[in-house]
Amino acid sequence: MSSAAPASPAASAKPRGLWLAGNWKMNKGPRETEAFVQELSHGLTGPGPRAGLKHLLFVPTVSLDVAQRAARVLPIPTEIGAQNAHFEKSGAFTGETSGPMLQELGIRWVLIGHSERRTLFGETNASAGQRARALLAQGLNVMLCIGETRVERERDETAAVLTAQLEAALTDDARAYLDGRLVLAYEPVWAIGTGLTATPEQAESTHQVIRKWLWDRHGMEASARTPVLYGGSVTPDNAAALFACPNIDGGLVGGASLKPATWSALLQKSG
Ligand code: PGA
Repeated sequence: MSSAAPASPAASAKPRGLWLAGNWKMNKGPRETEAFVQELSHGLTGPGPRAGLKHLLFVPTVSLDVAQRAARVLPIPTEIGAQNAHFEKSGAFTGETSGPMLQELGIRWVLIGHSERRTLFGETNASAGQRARALLAQGLNVMLCIGETRVERERDETAAVLTAQLEAALTDDARAYLDGRLVLAYEPVWAIGTGLTATPEQAESTHQVIRKWLWDRHGMEASARTPVLYGGSVTPDNAAALFACPNIDGGLVGGASLKPATWSALLQKSG
């Protein structure tokens, strides 16, 4: 019996490209960031990820600058992103970082509305939506996280919960940005950091709900152009089956993005 996981579909065969985004959460200061990128570059020597792969790393704020410089040595184009940002450009918002500050570092991507921001730091559908729209208007690219809890799934409320999260963020005035600059990450809260992954069937059918919402609310083009990633205990062993689903455009990965060996295994299999 072979335990080898199948290769992911060719990134170039996915209409919106294949996305692999690491979310380091509150891990890795500048020193560890530099060491990670160096080790990753050594691990990415063989036949590697191919055209169409979009590689992003969402790193802690203090590591953005180092990550941005270090990533230039990687053999694949890599974008560095922030894990949060405020909707105002400046002002009395102690502890926050603004879009223009990130842009000054050359950062183009921001993660918004991660479930940890929602459950641990009081982020609501409305405030996540406000951040997402403001940052898009400021010219940043946004990866907006949505997802239901275990109880909500058991009560068959998944579609209603996701719809409420989407409605709060992607209002009429967000339509202009649905040109590929907004990426959605569907992360069932029960699958984040738990080792429980949605099955490809569960994830694909939920992604279909999201894509249908985009079509009904914002039209065919927005629906066709917006990448929707899956997140929640993605590993090198389960990624290929998830990424082979037609409505899954890649993954947002926490734990498995922290070790260069695991991350390069995921990258080598993607594309
Ligand atoms: P996980 O985290 O891959 O460790 O489940 C995913 C995330 O929180 O984005």
